[in-house]
Amino acid sequence: MPKNTSPQKSARHVAVVMDGNGRWATARGLERLKGHVRGVDRVRETVKVAPAHGIEYLTIFAFSTENWKRSAREVLGLMALFRRFIRKESDTMMRDDVRVRFVGDRLRLDKKLRALMEDLEDRTKNNRTLNLTVALNYGGRDEITRAVRRIAQAVQSSALDPDNISEDTIADFLDTADLPDPDLIIRTSGEHRTSNFLTWQAAYAEYVFTQTAWPDFCESELVKSLEQYQNRDRRFGASEAV
Ligand code: FPP
Repeated sequence: MPKNTSPQKSARHVAVVMDGNGRWATARGLERLKGHVRGVDRVRETVKVAPAHGIEYLTIFAFSTENWKRSAREVLGLMALFRRFIRKESDTMMRDDVRVRFVGDRLRLDKKLRALMEDLEDRTKNNRTLNLTVALNYGGRDEITRAVRRIAQAVQSSALDPDNISEDTIADFLDTADLPDPDLIIRTSGEHRTSNFLTWQAAYAEYVFTQTAWPDFCESELVKSLEQYQNRDRRFGASEAV
């Protein structure tokens, strides 16, 4: 169930499609990877300031199931950035009381990265101030497909009665089972697409699209997006804001 029911409330769960790194770099005559490097700085900064703005859950789209189609150089560069981020930020996440989770299909990721991800999840599992979820090799349709497969297996083994399958059952089989639905989804860099991000979970989310590329998305940009959210009426299908 969406938890944030008042239009005045700040967004409890903010999810971000961090778009525009490549264009940001190309516009400056840099290679695309430099845009991702600057993007990591923005991730760090956003994690740091999020709790002060009432955010309890921050979910970021780091790598999609479609991103494998990029050049081998860019894919390898991104994977190296993820490994470095986990190694370098682990102590900071402990100091700042941030719980880190990963969603997406891990099976296609290399063993070393998977081990780092599991260690970080384990090390931070008792942290409470901010819940950071990193979507890595994530696609909303892929997540739903994997969930349906596991639901079918549960039915086949008689652990689940098909008549008892509800929306909550489906939510429980998704990678995000432990997370509330996002209240606000921000997409940077001018594209107005959802791009297979949180396909199930976004049913009642508010979207904010900004022109700013992710490498330039500083705290004041976050504040502007949160203000837009606060000015929206969330109705969840009712005739007035509930
Ligand atoms: C989209 O920009 C961005 C990505 C596919 C990668 C996002 C990754 C980071 C910001 C790295 C940091 C993440 C973590 C968790 C350390 P794009 O390359 O599609 O930009 P374009 O549309 O301008 O080409």
